[in-house]
Amino acid sequence: MALLAGMLYAGCGTENAVPPVGATLNVEEVKSLYSVKCGICHGADGALQYAGAKDLSISTLPLEEVHNQIKFGKGTMPPMNKVLDDASIAKLAEYAMTLRKGKP
Ligand code: HEC
Repeated sequence: MALLAGMLYAGCGTENAVPPVGATLNVEEVKSLYSVKCGICHGADGALQYAGAKDLSISTLPLEEVHNQIKFGKGTMPPMNKVLDDASIAKLAEYAMTLRKGKP
């Protein structure tokens, strides 16, 4: 995980400099990434609501908008497009969907 974090933080310049690690992330790594990048505000179960964060367990936002909000941020939620590549963001978006109660 230390190596992974190093890779993720390495490309802080332009969007193109972000290393394309997303495609290689497995389920456990996506979970770790969520706890590092999102857990502080949303909590492991998505329902923490720290700093005004929306409760992800009751969110009804479509996947595409979840993706965009992770990418570009909203309100006090920071944009991830400078620190994560699109494939990582896609995996986090999918992970966020799994935190919903009553998911299929
Ligand atoms: C600094 C705190 C913070 C962090 C870190 C953070 N968020 Fe958020 N998140 C928020 C806030 C605040 C909102 C509500 C934004 C608004 O609607 O004004 C939000 C909203 C969302 C929503 C929309 C929910 C809805 O139904 O409208 C999703 C999905 C989401 N966050 C996912 C994530 C994911 C995934 C990460 C990690 C990549 C993350 N967030 C990191 C604070 C945070």
